Amino acid sequence: MTARFPAARPRRLRRTPALRRMVAEHRLAPADLILPMFVKEGIAEPQPVASMPGVVQHTPDTLRKAAHEAVEAGVGGLMLFGIPAVKDGVGSGADDPDGIVQRAVRELRADLGDSAVLMADLCLDEYTDHGHCGVVTPSGEIDNDATLERYALIGLTLAASGVDMVAPSGMMDGQVGVIRGALDGAGHQDVSIMAYSVKYSSAYYGPFRDAAECAPQFGDRSAYQQDPANIAESLREVALDLDEGADVVIVKPAGAYLDVVARVRDAVDVPVAAYQVSGEYAMVEAAAANGWLDRDRVIMESLIGMRRAGADLILTYWATEVARRLTR
Ligand code: PBG
Repeated sequence: MTARFPAARPRRLRRTPALRRMVAEHRLAPADLILPMFVKEGIAEPQPVASMPGVVQHTPDTLRKAAHEAVEAGVGGLMLFGIPAVKDGVGSGADDPDGIVQRAVRELRADLGDSAVLMADLCLDEYTDHGHCGVVTPSGEIDNDATLERYALIGLTLAASGVDMVAPSGMMDGQVGVIRGALDGAGHQDVSIMAYSVKYSSAYYGPFRDAAECAPQFGDRSAYQQDPANIAESLREVALDLDEGADVVIVKPAGAYLDVVARVRDAVDVPVAAYQVSGEYAMVEAAAANGWLDRDRVIMESLIGMRRAGADLILTYWATEVARRLTR
Protein backbone atom coordinates (compact mmCIF):
# COMPACT_ATOMS: atom_id res chain seq x y z
CA MET A 1 0.00 0.00 0.00
CA THR A 2 1.36 3.39 -0.93
CA ALA A 3 1.71 5.94 1.85
CA ARG A 4 -0.83 8.75 1.70
CA PHE A 5 0.90 12.09 1.59
CA PRO A 6 -0.84 15.31 2.56
CA ALA A 7 -2.09 17.39 -0.34
CA ALA A 8 -1.77 20.58 1.63
CA ARG A 9 1.39 21.48 3.49
CA PRO A 10 1.04 24.71 5.51
CA ARG A 11 4.55 24.10 6.81
CA ARG A 12 6.00 25.12 3.42
CA LEU A 13 5.36 28.75 4.23
CA ARG A 14 6.96 28.45 7.66
CA ARG A 15 10.27 27.02 6.48
CA THR A 16 12.60 30.03 6.63
CA PRO A 17 12.59 33.34 8.50
CA ALA A 18 12.29 35.15 5.16
CA LEU A 19 9.20 33.15 4.18
CA ARG A 20 7.62 33.66 7.55
CA ARG A 21 8.32 37.36 7.44
CA MET A 22 6.82 37.72 3.99
CA VAL A 23 3.57 35.95 4.76
CA ALA A 24 3.05 37.42 8.24
CA GLU A 25 -0.55 38.59 8.48
CA HIS A 26 0.08 41.25 11.07
CA ARG A 27 2.98 43.53 11.83
CA LEU A 28 4.00 45.97 14.48
CA ALA A 29 5.28 49.39 13.54
CA PRO A 30 6.87 51.99 15.84
CA ALA A 31 4.33 54.62 14.79
CA ASP A 32 1.48 52.51 16.19
CA LEU A 33 3.01 52.53 19.66
CA ILE A 34 2.21 55.05 22.36
CA LEU A 35 4.45 55.46 25.41
CA PRO A 36 2.78 56.31 28.74
CA MET A 37 5.07 58.53 30.85
CA PHE A 38 4.92 59.83 34.40
CA VAL A 39 6.18 63.24 35.43
CA LYS A 40 6.29 64.23 39.07
CA GLU A 41 6.38 67.70 40.55
CA GLY A 42 9.05 68.72 43.03
CA ILE A 43 11.60 65.92 42.67
CA ALA A 44 15.28 66.45 41.83
CA GLU A 45 15.97 62.93 40.55
CA PRO A 46 13.76 60.44 38.70
CA GLN A 47 12.10 57.98 41.08
CA PRO A 48 11.98 54.30 40.16
CA VAL A 49 8.56 52.65 40.38
CA ALA A 50 9.16 49.56 42.49
CA SER A 51 6.43 47.43 40.95
CA MET A 52 7.38 48.44 37.38
CA PRO A 53 11.13 47.81 36.97
CA GLY A 54 12.43 50.07 34.20
CA VAL A 55 9.67 52.67 34.61
CA VAL A 56 10.30 55.92 36.50
CA GLN A 57 8.51 59.00 37.66
CA HIS A 58 10.35 61.62 35.63
CA THR A 59 11.60 65.06 36.48
CA PRO A 60 10.88 67.57 33.71
CA ASP A 61 14.46 67.12 32.51
CA THR A 62 14.49 63.34 32.35
CA LEU A 63 11.03 63.46 30.77
CA ARG A 64 12.40 65.55 27.96
CA LYS A 65 15.30 63.17 27.44
CA ALA A 66 13.08 60.07 27.46
CA ALA A 67 10.63 61.78 25.11
CA HIS A 68 13.45 62.50 22.68
CA GLU A 69 14.56 58.89 22.80
CA ALA A 70 11.03 57.68 22.12
CA VAL A 71 10.60 60.03 19.18
CA GLU A 72 13.98 59.08 17.79
CA ALA A 73 12.97 55.43 17.95
CA GLY A 74 9.86 56.30 15.93
CA VAL A 75 7.27 55.92 18.68
CA GLY A 76 3.99 57.39 17.48
CA GLY A 77 2.79 59.21 20.57
CA LEU A 78 3.44 60.08 24.20
CA MET A 79 0.75 59.84 26.86
CA LEU A 80 1.52 61.98 29.89
CA PHE A 81 0.47 61.43 33.48
CA GLY A 82 1.25 64.03 36.14
CA ILE A 83 1.81 63.58 39.84
CA PRO A 84 1.41 66.91 41.63
CA ALA A 85 3.36 67.92 44.74
CA VAL A 86 0.12 68.59 46.60
CA LYS A 87 -3.16 66.69 46.37
CA ASP A 88 -6.53 67.83 47.66
CA GLY A 89 -10.18 66.83 47.69
CA VAL A 90 -11.08 68.27 44.28
CA GLY A 91 -7.75 67.67 42.54
CA SER A 92 -6.87 71.35 42.08
CA GLY A 93 -3.54 70.46 40.48
CA ALA A 94 -5.30 68.89 37.51
CA ASP A 95 -6.60 72.11 35.97
CA ASP A 96 -3.83 74.43 37.12
CA PRO A 97 -2.60 76.21 33.96
CA ASP A 98 0.86 75.88 35.50
CA GLY A 99 0.32 72.33 36.71
CA ILE A 100 2.96 69.67 36.28
CA VAL A 101 1.50 68.20 33.10
CA GLN A 102 0.59 71.54 31.55
CA ARG A 103 4.17 72.73 32.00
CA ALA A 104 5.57 69.45 30.73
CA VAL A 105 3.42 69.65 27.61
CA ARG A 106 4.55 73.21 26.88
CA GLU A 107 8.18 72.20 27.24
CA LEU A 108 7.86 69.08 25.13
CA ARG A 109 5.98 70.97 22.44
CA ALA A 110 8.66 73.68 22.33
CA ASP A 111 11.29 70.98 22.15
CA LEU A 112 9.76 68.45 19.80
CA GLY A 113 7.50 70.59 17.65
CA ASP A 114 5.05 68.39 15.81
CA SER A 115 7.40 65.39 15.62
CA ALA A 116 5.39 63.45 18.19
CA VAL A 117 1.73 63.26 19.05
CA LEU A 118 1.38 64.61 22.58
CA MET A 119 -1.47 63.31 24.68
CA ALA A 120 -2.43 63.74 28.28
CA ASP A 121 -4.52 61.54 30.51
CA LEU A 122 -7.51 63.58 31.61
CA CYS A 123 -8.61 62.43 35.04
CA LEU A 124 -8.59 63.40 38.69
CA ASP A 125 -7.22 60.38 40.52
CA GLU A 126 -3.58 61.44 40.29
CA TYR A 127 -4.57 64.80 41.79
CA THR A 128 -7.05 63.97 44.56
CA ASP A 129 -6.04 63.11 48.11
CA HIS A 130 -8.70 60.37 48.22
CA GLY A 131 -7.43 58.82 44.97
CA HIS A 132 -10.79 58.61 43.21
CA CYS A 133 -11.34 59.74 39.63
CA GLY A 134 -14.02 62.25 40.56
CA VAL A 135 -15.50 64.62 43.08
CA VAL A 136 -16.66 62.78 46.20
CA THR A 137 -19.98 63.58 47.89
CA PRO A 138 -20.22 63.77 51.71
CA SER A 139 -21.70 60.27 51.69
CA GLY A 140 -18.65 58.92 49.83
CA GLU A 141 -20.08 58.57 46.34
CA ILE A 142 -18.52 59.85 43.13
CA ASP A 143 -20.60 62.78 41.86
CA ASN A 144 -20.79 62.25 38.10
CA ASP A 145 -21.98 65.67 37.02
CA ALA A 146 -19.85 67.72 39.40
CA THR A 147 -16.89 65.74 38.09
CA LEU A 148 -17.78 66.62 34.49
CA GLU A 149 -17.34 70.30 35.32
CA ARG A 150 -13.86 69.56 36.62
CA TYR A 151 -13.01 67.52 33.52
CA ALA A 152 -14.06 70.37 31.23
CA LEU A 153 -11.66 72.72 33.02
CA ILE A 154 -8.83 70.20 32.88
CA GLY A 155 -9.42 69.75 29.15
CA LEU A 156 -9.20 73.49 28.57
CA THR A 157 -5.86 73.85 30.37
CA LEU A 158 -4.40 70.84 28.57
CA ALA A 159 -5.54 72.19 25.21
CA ALA A 160 -4.08 75.59 26.01
CA SER A 161 -0.76 73.97 26.88
CA GLY A 162 -0.58 72.38 23.42
CA VAL A 163 -1.67 68.74 23.53
CA ASP A 164 -2.82 67.10 20.31
CA MET A 165 -5.19 64.85 22.20
CA VAL A 166 -6.79 64.59 25.60
CA ALA A 167 -7.57 61.15 26.95
CA PRO A 168 -10.44 61.14 29.45
CA SER A 169 -10.07 58.04 31.63
CA GLY A 170 -12.43 58.62 34.55
CA MET A 171 -15.46 56.68 33.24
CA MET A 172 -17.97 59.39 34.11
CA ASP A 173 -21.11 59.29 31.97
CA GLY A 174 -21.11 62.06 29.40
CA GLN A 175 -17.45 62.99 29.84
CA VAL A 176 -16.57 62.98 26.15
CA GLY A 177 -19.48 65.23 25.22
CA VAL A 178 -18.81 67.74 27.96
CA ILE A 179 -15.09 67.93 27.16
CA ARG A 180 -15.79 68.22 23.42
CA GLY A 181 -18.23 71.04 24.10
CA ALA A 182 -15.77 72.89 26.32
CA LEU A 183 -12.95 72.54 23.80
CA ASP A 184 -15.10 73.69 20.89
CA GLY A 185 -16.43 76.60 22.89
CA ALA A 186 -12.89 77.83 23.52
CA GLY A 187 -11.62 77.51 19.96
CA HIS A 188 -9.87 74.17 20.50
CA GLN A 189 -11.92 72.34 17.90
CA ASP A 190 -8.74 70.75 16.50
CA VAL A 191 -7.76 69.04 19.74
CA SER A 192 -8.78 65.38 19.50
CA ILE A 193 -10.30 63.16 22.11
CA MET A 194 -8.81 59.72 22.60
CA ALA A 195 -11.42 58.25 24.89
CA TYR A 196 -10.87 55.46 27.34
CA SER A 197 -14.29 54.24 26.24
CA VAL A 198 -13.90 50.73 27.54
CA LYS A 199 -12.28 50.63 30.92
CA TYR A 200 -12.73 47.69 33.20
CA SER A 201 -12.45 47.77 36.96
CA SER A 202 -9.23 45.82 36.89
CA ALA A 203 -6.69 44.48 39.34
CA TYR A 204 -4.17 44.78 36.50
CA TYR A 205 -3.91 48.53 37.31
CA GLY A 206 -2.23 47.70 40.64
CA PRO A 207 1.32 48.84 39.81
CA PHE A 208 0.04 52.04 38.15
CA ARG A 209 -1.27 53.12 41.50
CA ASP A 210 2.32 53.07 42.77
CA ALA A 211 3.52 54.91 39.69
CA ALA A 212 0.87 57.63 39.92
CA GLU A 213 0.46 57.45 43.70
CA CYS A 214 -3.29 57.22 43.33
CA ALA A 215 -4.58 54.15 45.17
CA PRO A 216 -8.13 54.94 46.35
CA GLN A 217 -8.13 55.73 50.06
CA PHE A 218 -11.57 54.14 50.52
CA GLY A 219 -13.63 51.76 48.45
CA ASP A 220 -12.67 50.89 44.90
CA ARG A 221 -13.58 52.02 41.38
CA SER A 222 -16.25 49.41 40.64
CA ALA A 223 -19.06 51.94 40.83
CA TYR A 224 -17.73 53.70 37.73
CA GLN A 225 -15.37 51.30 35.95
CA GLN A 226 -16.82 48.29 34.15
CA ASP A 227 -17.46 44.77 35.38
CA PRO A 228 -15.01 42.31 33.73
CA ALA A 229 -17.96 39.98 33.13
CA ASN A 230 -19.47 42.30 30.50
CA ILE A 231 -18.94 42.87 26.80
CA ALA A 232 -22.23 44.22 25.40
CA GLU A 233 -21.79 47.07 27.85
CA SER A 234 -18.47 47.89 26.21
CA LEU A 235 -20.08 48.24 22.81
CA ARG A 236 -22.60 50.57 24.40
CA GLU A 237 -19.87 52.68 26.00
CA VAL A 238 -18.06 52.93 22.66
CA ALA A 239 -21.24 53.93 20.82
CA LEU A 240 -21.98 56.63 23.38
CA ASP A 241 -18.45 58.04 23.20
CA LEU A 242 -18.50 58.15 19.40
CA ASP A 243 -21.83 59.89 19.54
CA GLU A 244 -20.32 62.44 21.93
CA GLY A 245 -17.38 63.07 19.61
CA ALA A 246 -14.56 60.64 20.42
CA ASP A 247 -11.90 60.49 17.68
CA VAL A 248 -10.09 57.37 18.93
CA VAL A 249 -11.34 54.76 21.39
CA ILE A 250 -9.26 52.83 23.92
CA VAL A 251 -9.90 49.37 25.33
CA LYS A 252 -8.23 48.82 28.67
CA PRO A 253 -6.66 46.55 29.89
CA ALA A 254 -5.56 44.77 26.72
CA GLY A 255 -4.24 41.25 27.32
CA ALA A 256 -7.20 39.76 29.17
CA TYR A 257 -9.67 41.65 26.96
CA LEU A 258 -8.61 40.84 23.40
CA ASP A 259 -12.12 39.59 22.63
CA VAL A 260 -13.34 43.08 23.48
CA VAL A 261 -10.71 44.66 21.23
CA ALA A 262 -11.90 42.44 18.37
CA ARG A 263 -15.57 43.23 18.90
CA VAL A 264 -14.93 46.96 19.15
CA ARG A 265 -12.72 46.91 16.03
CA ASP A 266 -15.59 45.29 14.10
CA ALA A 267 -18.12 47.77 15.41
CA VAL A 268 -16.47 51.13 14.69
CA ASP A 269 -14.72 53.08 11.96
CA VAL A 270 -12.33 55.08 14.14
CA PRO A 271 -8.87 53.95 15.30
CA VAL A 272 -8.98 51.50 18.20
CA ALA A 273 -6.21 51.53 20.80
CA ALA A 274 -5.41 48.76 23.27
CA TYR A 275 -3.75 49.72 26.57
CA GLN A 276 -1.28 47.14 27.84
CA VAL A 277 -1.48 48.23 31.45
CA SER A 278 0.93 48.31 34.36
CA GLY A 279 0.03 44.85 35.68
CA GLU A 280 0.61 43.26 32.28
CA TYR A 281 4.03 44.91 32.23
CA ALA A 282 4.85 43.92 35.81
CA MET A 283 3.92 40.27 35.36
CA VAL A 284 6.29 39.82 32.43
CA GLU A 285 9.13 41.74 34.07
CA ALA A 286 8.76 39.77 37.30
CA ALA A 287 8.67 36.39 35.59
CA ALA A 288 11.61 37.36 33.38
CA ALA A 289 13.64 38.55 36.37
CA ASN A 290 13.21 35.06 37.80
CA GLY A 291 14.35 33.50 34.56
CA TRP A 292 10.93 31.91 34.09
CA LEU A 293 10.24 33.10 30.57
CA ASP A 294 11.90 34.70 27.58
CA ARG A 295 11.15 38.36 28.21
CA ASP A 296 11.76 39.74 24.72
CA ARG A 297 9.74 37.07 22.96
CA VAL A 298 6.83 37.36 25.38
CA ILE A 299 6.74 41.13 24.89
CA MET A 300 6.57 40.80 21.10
CA GLU A 301 4.02 37.99 21.32
CA SER A 302 1.78 39.99 23.63
CA LEU A 303 1.87 42.96 21.26
CA ILE A 304 1.28 41.05 18.03
CA GLY A 305 -1.68 39.41 19.77
CA MET A 306 -3.18 42.86 20.22
CA ARG A 307 -2.66 43.67 16.54
CA ARG A 308 -4.22 40.34 15.58
CA ALA A 309 -7.23 41.15 17.75
CA GLY A 310 -7.60 44.35 15.76
CA ALA A 311 -5.85 47.08 17.72
CA ASP A 312 -4.61 49.86 15.46
CA LEU A 313 -2.66 51.51 18.26
CA ILE A 314 -1.06 50.07 21.37
CA LEU A 315 -0.18 51.89 24.55
CA THR A 316 2.72 50.08 26.17
CA TYR A 317 5.43 50.91 28.69
CA TRP A 318 7.81 49.03 26.38
CA ALA A 319 7.14 51.36 23.42
CA THR A 320 10.64 52.80 23.03
CA GLU A 321 12.41 49.48 23.46
CA VAL A 322 10.08 47.72 21.03
CA ALA A 323 10.28 50.53 18.47
CA ARG A 324 14.06 50.20 18.51
CA ARG A 325 13.87 46.45 18.12
CA LEU A 326 11.52 46.82 15.16
CA THR A 327 13.82 49.15 13.25
CA ARG A 328 17.26 47.79 13.91
C1 PBG B 1 -6.78 56.83 35.59
C2 PBG B 1 -5.91 55.82 34.93
C3 PBG B 1 -5.50 54.60 35.46
C4 PBG B 1 -4.68 54.00 34.50
C5 PBG B 1 -4.61 54.87 33.42
N1 PBG B 1 -5.39 55.98 33.70
C6 PBG B 1 -5.74 54.02 36.80
C7 PBG B 1 -7.10 53.59 37.18
O1 PBG B 1 -8.06 53.83 36.47
O2 PBG B 1 -7.25 53.03 38.23
C8 PBG B 1 -4.03 52.67 34.63
C9 PBG B 1 -2.91 52.42 33.68
C10 PBG B 1 -2.09 51.23 34.02
O3 PBG B 1 -2.41 50.41 34.89
O4 PBG B 1 -1.04 51.07 33.36
N2 PBG B 1 -6.23 58.12 35.54
